[in-house]
Amino acid sequence: MSSFRKFRDAIIQKKSKVCVVGLGYIGFPTALFYLRGGYHVEGIDLNKSLVENLRTGKLPMVEEGLTELARGYLPKLKIHSGYDELGETDIFVLCLPSPIDDNKRPITDYLESSLSSIAAIIRHPVLVIIESTVPVGFTERQAHRFSKIVSLTHDEEFWFVHSPERVLPGSVVCEMEENDRLVGGVTERATELGHLFLGSVFGENKIHRTRSKISETSKLAENAYRDTCIAFANELALLSTEIGIDVREVIHFANLHPRVDILEPGLGVGGYCFPKDGWILVNSTEGTKKLARLIPTARSVNDTMPSHVLHRIKTEMDSEYLAITRFAILGVSYKPNVSDTRMSPSLELISLLRRDGKELRLYDPLVRSNSDLKLSKELGDVVDSCDVIVFAVNHSWMKDALLKHDLSDKIVVDPTGSLQEERDRFRKYIGLTA
Ligand SMILES: NC(=O)c1ccc[n+]([C@@H]2O[C@H](COP(=O)([O-])OP(=O)(O)OC[C@H]3O[C@@H](n4cnc5c(N)ncnc54)[C@H](O)[C@@H]3O)[C@@H](O)[C@H]2O)c1
Repeated sequence: MSSFRKFRDAIIQKKSKVCVVGLGYIGFPTALFYLRGGYHVEGIDLNKSLVENLRTGKLPMVEEGLTELARGYLPKLKIHSGYDELGETDIFVLCLPSPIDDNKRPITDYLESSLSSIAAIIRHPVLVIIESTVPVGFTERQAHRFSKIVSLTHDEEFWFVHSPERVLPGSVVCEMEENDRLVGGVTERATELGHLFLGSVFGENKIHRTRSKISETSKLAENAYRDTCIAFANELALLSTEIGIDVREVIHFANLHPRVDILEPGLGVGGYCFPKDGWILVNSTEGTKKLARLIPTARSVNDTMPSHVLHRIKTEMDSEYLAITRFAILGVSYKPNVSDTRMSPSLELISLLRRDGKELRLYDPLVRSNSDLKLSKELGDVVDSCDVIVFAVNHSWMKDALLKHDLSDKIVVDPTGSLQEERDRFRKYIGLTA
């Protein structure tokens, strides 16, 4: 029987051994789902403290439903901090970082180095599934490179697939289970194996077959599209400020049109994906870089928002801005109800205010303090000790918690727009626009 058929049959019988590489935000829950799907699963992460934490049952992030999922499957997950500790593996699933550099170019070193480590240990046929978000053409190029460094034949004994993850942070467990997925093989056989494996875990009808370049581009397009839509709302906020009108009123009326659905403007766009994925698409090739105009512009509009909010604060506070030094920042995560602070616009505003010499007290009970980010534990202490309160992130319970305090002598800055109706309760209210 051919290697391909044997490999296929092993997946059908769930005898294939799986290794998830990178046990971060995406990889860790992914590994639990494969265990739940009935596979033998091992995990590798080079971050030793993460591995230690996982071995002692400490989860890397707060996500609804994750504790329950981990209770059932984490004890079955074999976790390693090096490739040499790994048992025999048939399917490698790569959930590794894919950031951008200072020039907005994709950094693929994590993935390439992992693929080299895998190439050094494999002795028999493997399926490699790249779940990371990657530049267009990356999966194909890596399959080609792999064929030069392993003694296996491409499409006979190893197969490469791109299958991007599309979860929304805050709903990772639910979305991993529910979302439709793309499976884009470098070859037809790779697509077939990827489809078979992922279908056996998440349900065949949710897995859509395509080619790797299409799945890579679709993933990047999804995030670039959302980023561009938010940039439109943010640009309207900038224009409304100039005109001297309330952008939220403008959007409310515009959205009464049956075919218009403008999103919410705000402090900016953060998180691990949106700030980089548009750039990965744009900078995938020299040709795409030359052609792209809208996506880079959207990025720069969204990046400008923390400075816009600072400008609003300075304009509205006028001479008080120099006199008042104590500012409270409520919410440091990049969006409501998550603990993730990566690329958070709130952190950008914090650094702008610090540059102006402001004394800041930070509050966000979802986020853990670290050496760079000291967070206060009590909202009451933070509010009492500051003259200006910046409501930076609208965590679902934070508005009610804040409004329990007497804010009549406070200046409240509200880029989220969620305190607009309470504006009479503050000494001064500063919104995103007039
Ligand atoms: N976070 C999200 O919401 C999200 C959503 C969709 C897609 N993605 C994409 O998924 C990918 C992973 O993102 P993430 O948020 O899970 O990243 P992460 O940083 O949380 O996790 C990556 C893990 O890989 C480990 N690692 C790095 N190099 C390694 C190596 N050579 N071998 C083994 N482990 C290594 C790191 O220690 C880290 O724990 C990225 O491409 C991202 O764009 C993320």
